[in-house]
Amino acid sequence: MNEANYIWMDGTLVPWAEAKVHILTHTLHYGNAVFEGTRAYQTEEGLAIFRLEDHCKRLYNSAKIVAIKPNMPYEEVKQAHIDLLKANNFSGNVYIRPLIYLGYGQMGIYHKNVPVNTSIAAWEWGAYLGKDGLEKGISVCTSSITRNPNRSTFGKAKAAANYLNSQMAKYEAIENGFDEALMLDENGFIAEGTGECIFIVRNGKLISPPNDNSLESITQSTILELAQDKGFEIERRNITRDEIYICDECFLTGTAAEVTPVRAFDHRIIGEGKRGPITEILQNAYFDVVFGRNEQYKHYLTYI
Ligand SMILES: Cc1ncc(COP(=O)(O)O)c(C=O)c1O
Repeated sequence: MNEANYIWMDGTLVPWAEAKVHILTHTLHYGNAVFEGTRAYQTEEGLAIFRLEDHCKRLYNSAKIVAIKPNMPYEEVKQAHIDLLKANNFSGNVYIRPLIYLGYGQMGIYHKNVPVNTSIAAWEWGAYLGKDGLEKGISVCTSSITRNPNRSTFGKAKAAANYLNSQMAKYEAIENGFDEALMLDENGFIAEGTGECIFIVRNGKLISPPNDNSLESITQSTILELAQDKGFEIERRNITRDEIYICDECFLTGTAAEVTPVRAFDHRIIGEGKRGPITEILQNAYFDVVFGRNEQYKHYLTYI
């Protein structure tokens, strides 16, 4: 773990080693918490957080969905991201993890009266699926685990509890020799990765499933904007696993995964078995945006 100097907890910058919770913290037992995964990049004009406002909005929307009343005002938490990065004086690219959780004070499943806490941690973190993965692509499988169904969980929330599913799917994939897994929805369509959305390319057309069975991904929306700018034809529709077998290109998008090509899926080679040309165009465009090299998208950056 790349430790930093401070973690922000309920309005205070706490030294990293002292950022602790009680063993009877409610979230540790029953799993209700919401979080974000946000990145900040070292641009030519210094460290900048990518789409801070959108990540904060999703964090507070997630809390609303799972009936957690945040203990800290929205604007204060947003500003705390900036203050934390300043205090930690990072020299590399940074991953930021805000968390709104149910704290210590009351046990039992009914959570309305449990105290709420908010923390933000940040540390230097490289490519989630490996630097090689970004260049050469990764191998992915269809998970045996169905993505959390809409009837019993809240998939629009970036809720900690949802990630048991992702964690089991990721575990199974890696233990079976793959890098990542794609989960199907209840109807057998591709839903999402364990922490990513998916795009395929067929005959020059970019296809990504609707967000009915996935998180409303901020990276996916950025890629869709960039693709539109570049004049690519875009379709939002369901795809099946066998359509991925025969697509020309496939890539995964997520704040952590950025834009990661898929070179093989369920042991079928995708396209040429390497990063495809449209994937490369969009990957480069994405990195231009997050590193502040595209004037048109600078409004997405919050400079520290
Ligand atoms: C399950 C899941 N789907 C999709 C995504 C991609 O979302 P974003 O691009 O906003 O990071 C993530 C990552 O946050 C995720 O955890």
